[in-house]
Amino acid sequence: MKKMIIAANWKMNNGMREADALLREIMSADELHDDPLMIICPPFTSLAMLSEKARGSSVRIGAQNCHYEEKGAFTGEISLPMLESAGCHYVIIGHSERRNIFGETDGMVARKIAAVLNSSLTPIFCIGETLEERGTGNTFATLQRQLDTAFKGREKSSREKTIIAYEPVWAIGTGLSASPEQIREAHTFIKEHTRSVFDFDPPVLYGGSLTPANADTILSQREVDGGLIGGASLEAASFLSIYEIAKKYAV
Ligand code: PGA
Repeated sequence: MKKMIIAANWKMNNGMREADALLREIMSADELHDDPLMIICPPFTSLAMLSEKARGSSVRIGAQNCHYEEKGAFTGEISLPMLESAGCHYVIIGHSERRNIFGETDGMVARKIAAVLNSSLTPIFCIGETLEERGTGNTFATLQRQLDTAFKGREKSSREKTIIAYEPVWAIGTGLSASPEQIREAHTFIKEHTRSVFDFDPPVLYGGSLTPANADTILSQREVDGGLIGGASLEAASFLSIYEIAKKYAV
């Protein structure tokens, strides 16, 4: 048994009204607990509203991205102090859609991690290999490079709060989740590397086509501390059924 985290990444879905309705439906579930911890990451536009609605409950609200500067001439960007003022506690950093569609480099991701670690927010730091990297035997080298660029030079006391999400890029939104063996190997590598090189033990979530149908197989694994869920988080019923499954494996 272990502490579990179930996080929803709504991506670019749900306007104010839909976001309000979905959170309401999720929060009407009988038994939400601190363990598994539930984190909902809506689009920026509904962050403040949902933070207000979740206040006093065990549900936490997170953003899907941020800029590393506090303020200035960065049209279209959102800073960490803005997320703090919207009542946000978590922020997803380095999602593969940010890296691949919007050109975020390891260097930019590292600056974002550094900024989040210096703020009151907790990063949900996404790493994972592409199909090509897996095909050429570079899965672990990719994970190591992503971890090293983010954590090198960061103080132990600040990096310790990081949550890592292992999200193989080829499994995101494709309906093709990684096999239990692939997940176990990747999570074990991430845990060993962070422990031996960076001296801390982060929770490692799995993300990539996690659904009610495969949640038990994935979340029951010792090396998996929860999930980051995209598609299946857009319906209260499927998200809550994953949450219920996680509860079986929580402390
Ligand atoms: P998915 O997305 O569950 O739709 O594959 C996961 C993610 O991108 O975080």
